[in-house]
Amino acid sequence: MKRAIILLIFCIFQGVQALTASAQPERDIWHIVTTVGEDAASQVTVNYHCSLCCSYVLYTQAADTAFAEAKKVWPVCQRWSSQGIRNTAPGSTFYTQERYVCYAPLTGLEADTPYRFKIVSEGAESDVRLFRTAGTTSSWNFVAFTDFQHRENPVTLPLVQMMKEIAGDPALMICSGDMVDVAGNEYEWTYLLDNDIFRDFVYAASPGDHAYWASDKVDGHYPQYDYAYTFNRLFHFPQNGAPDSRNTSYWFRYNNVLFVALDMHNSDTASGPRFKDEVRWLGETLDRLAGSYQYLVVFEHKSIFGSEIVDSAVARNLRPQWAPVFQKYRVDLVLSGHDHIYSRTFALDGDQPTEDPEAGTFYLDMGSSGDKRRPLDRSLTESPRHTKVLDLKELDMSCACNVEVDGTCLKVTVYDQHRQVVDRFVIPRKQR
Ligand SMILES: [Fe+2]
Repeated sequence: MKRAIILLIFCIFQGVQALTASAQPERDIWHIVTTVGEDAASQVTVNYHCSLCCSYVLYTQAADTAFAEAKKVWPVCQRWSSQGIRNTAPGSTFYTQERYVCYAPLTGLEADTPYRFKIVSEGAESDVRLFRTAGTTSSWNFVAFTDFQHRENPVTLPLVQMMKEIAGDPALMICSGDMVDVAGNEYEWTYLLDNDIFRDFVYAASPGDHAYWASDKVDGHYPQYDYAYTFNRLFHFPQNGAPDSRNTSYWFRYNNVLFVALDMHNSDTASGPRFKDEVRWLGETLDRLAGSYQYLVVFEHKSIFGSEIVDSAVARNLRPQWAPVFQKYRVDLVLSGHDHIYSRTFALDGDQPTEDPEAGTFYLDMGSSGDKRRPLDRSLTESPRHTKVLDLKELDMSCACNVEVDGTCLKVTVYDQHRQVVDRFVIPRKQR
């Protein structure tokens, strides 16, 4: 109670000046996103942007439709705009409309339980959202997407809706980057996050290189952020990542799977100290968590066995850094995008195909879950490492996958936007 009063006084003080210097957004509370907690069975984080002071989150179990048993959580809020950030887009509402960026960790949740929540502020209340916690079951499923990229493309929203239906309203959505094309443009995020189709997931995402795109082209080049500033203010992920890639690299447990998000940064920083730091962090993390999971799934924007033509720096700089780590820790599945070409490897031990079920890592580059597609290149079609390559441009195809997990294997089924199964493979459970 005392803390609430102090917070109230603080908010009144802040609120006197709140946002008076800039135009008000059209809505009071927007970009409502639920992100995964380190232990997904007991933690999620509610993220949102708010033009009003003193907002809080009310949450309760889904069956409590009247919020009679609701708990109140005060979020961490920061007044923010992108002004002052190097290379930012001055035409973006991130720049022109200062707002409160808020996140509220919900902890102590019950496992395997559906919840509802809403955000309340002075004179404003969000609509009611749902989420479901993870639990202890070893049989479950999640959906994964990549590279939605362009706003208002005709594919993304129907594809997400279709996957919800196919996968039976899965609780968890993974996205391996490039959720928007230019991360400094707020309207691109609005298209994606502020619509009914994206509601009610628990999200986990890794940033693509476009999360570093600060602005539209200047003199033929896209100015870059030094850090994924807007991504980091839309999604508060577990703060357990590499020191210089906090929030863009992280891990979480979801039932019997350990997920790791990696930050591939922008194409100019594909090597150097930030990567060494992240590689070291991953090794130390996996050493510490050894024996605590059945499957290990990594999601990162750039597939280290993807196209060598689309981004030649990946094979040159990223592959030598990451392949030995994935080999050492026997990663089961690496989910990626970036190329806008579909490619899937055999199980690889290091960089060589293997039939040893205890050693293999499958690399799945889903290509595109939007309408940006590229033609094939021979580095993929002639590769001895790849078993499935699809020319998404010629096929006019977009992809997403449903991953079914049980005590014996991971079953990965890839769909196109017309509900057709375009690839399917099984990853046997390793002894861990
Ligand atoms: Fe992309």
